[in-house]
Amino acid sequence: APGAQEFIPPDAETLADLRTAAGGCRGCELYQDATQTVFGRGDERARVVFVGEQPGDVEDRQGLPFVGPAGHLLRRAVDEAGIDPTQLYITNAVKHFRFESRGQRRIHKTPDGTHIVACRPWLVAEFARLRPEVVVVLGATAAKALLGPSFRVTRSRGVLLPWPDSAQRPQDFAQVPVGPTGQRESVAQTRLVATIHPSAVLRADDRDSAYAGLVADLRVVAGALS
Ligand code: URA
Ligand code: SF4
Repeated sequence: APGAQEFIPPDAETLADLRTAAGGCRGCELYQDATQTVFGRGDERARVVFVGEQPGDVEDRQGLPFVGPAGHLLRRAVDEAGIDPTQLYITNAVKHFRFESRGQRRIHKTPDGTHIVACRPWLVAEFARLRPEVVVVLGATAAKALLGPSFRVTRSRGVLLPWPDSAQRPQDFAQVPVGPTGQRESVAQTRLVATIHPSAVLRADDRDSAYAGLVADLRVVAGALS
């Protein structure tokens, strides 16, 4: 697969330009079976960017990230943690829904490393325009996309971390041209907070404590923003 890079127009300035271009991406085979590209959404000036895994069934049909069950849970947790929902931009490591058909049902299938790598140019392009203050890494796939394979969410969750030296830093994401409208004035340092994926809360044996853990991690984000 060629990867997404060749589908990113060099003159794309805004997130809206990127979203339009991503609609035609064929950087890996996932576009073939999915309904549509699900690009990130939120304010261009968002101070915090959430990165999930890939769209689910509902997101694939509606074309928007985190609008299904995991999204509802995430929004509730964001609210409870005291993060201003207008300060968010929400996106995914992989922009097409990967699934396996079982009869009428479409069962989520975790993206492979190849899909993560193929799709990462979109994530890099989003970061280059957003220059967020805090990146919230939701689960292992987002961690793999941004921080590499050795980062362990369970070991490092819920703490405000500097961007690891080993990973490409969002403030260095500017190899992608950033036009005047997309440029953030100054962000000293992007920091990150890793936490579990909201879908993992939905699957947990003890949902209440898993949810409380997610909210506690997000309070760290709220604290970093205030
Ligand atoms: N899970 C994700 O990781 N992203 C979505 O958009 C929905 C569910
Ligand atoms: Fe392009 Fe990403 Fe979709 Fe693959 S998953 S076709 S790289 S947008």
